[in-house]
Amino acid sequence: MPISIEEVTYQYQLNTPFERTALRDVNVMIPSGALVAFLGHTGSGKSTLVQHMNGLLRPTKGRVVVDDIEVRAITKRRDKKQSLLPLRRRVGLVFQYPEHQLFEETVERDVMFGPRNFGASEDEAKERAHVALRLVGLDEALWSRSPFDLSGGQMRRVAIAGVLASRPDVLVVDEPTAGLDPLGRREMLALFKRLKQELDLTLILVSHDMDDVLAYAERVVVMERGQVAFDGDPFNLFKDEALVEALQLEIPHVLRFANELAPVFGVATPSLRTETELADWIALELGRGGAT
Ligand SMILES: Nc1ncnc2c1ncn2[C@@H]1O[C@H](COP(=O)(O)OP(=O)(O)OP(=O)(O)O)[C@@H](O)[C@H]1O
Ligand SMILES: [Mg+2]
Repeated sequence: MPISIEEVTYQYQLNTPFERTALRDVNVMIPSGALVAFLGHTGSGKSTLVQHMNGLLRPTKGRVVVDDIEVRAITKRRDKKQSLLPLRRRVGLVFQYPEHQLFEETVERDVMFGPRNFGASEDEAKERAHVALRLVGLDEALWSRSPFDLSGGQMRRVAIAGVLASRPDVLVVDEPTAGLDPLGRREMLALFKRLKQELDLTLILVSHDMDDVLAYAERVVVMERGQVAFDGDPFNLFKDEALVEALQLEIPHVLRFANELAPVFGVATPSLRTETELADWIALELGRGGAT
């Protein structure tokens, strides 16, 4: 399902002394089936932007079009009546802090909430919840536990299952790997890859992590002070050291390593994206007797 953000400006606490412009004339087109990462400094507007994708926030100016649903600022009485429920079901948003999203007494009830809210029967909701919990790989022994007894990574899985249970076309996850250890983050990213393939989703990830973005995203949109500062292939962003610095980002470790080794091998830096590719390249160059 395509998402089109057109000339979107968003101001928090409009017409108060605390007014704050979080987005300024943002244009982003996301085609159906894409895997896009949003990257940017803290406070650059990433969370504000993704909350526009399911109508949680409405633009102050501009519009958001998701498939055949248009969301604009509320200017007329008719706009107030617009139900955004169909949009909420089709675009599932997992918040930056999953604990804000969980509230039921058990994991199972929590994941059932979405389908029930969108009109499924109790049995149907339960069935969908079980499918979703299996999809995210949450052990059945945990389903009757309180979501608040779980680890950070498990809580996030419950929040993701809660969104998947409504069978969305688009999955938006805000900072899915924040606070996870290296193994936890690898598992989380592998989960998204699998979900995208199995469910044919459009996947939108917000991230702080340069290595994750380089390894997993087909496209990266960099936000800077409420505006789009870069939109393209992550490799093209990270190979441009001056641009990376200007945007206050960092070169991913994998590329930094390759950049240092390339002159040693006497070759140009290859277009590497993952640790595995880095290791293969080093093995290849060593095999050629490149480093002496
Ligand atoms: N509820 C709010 N009320 C007022 N201002 C807000 C609110 N939420 C966010 N802002 C401001 O809007 C701007 C963008 O915030 P946003 O949370 O979208 O950034 P972000 O890129 O997601 O940051 P982070 O990386 O820290 O999650 C920031 O200046 C922030 O202080
Ligand atoms: Mg955020």
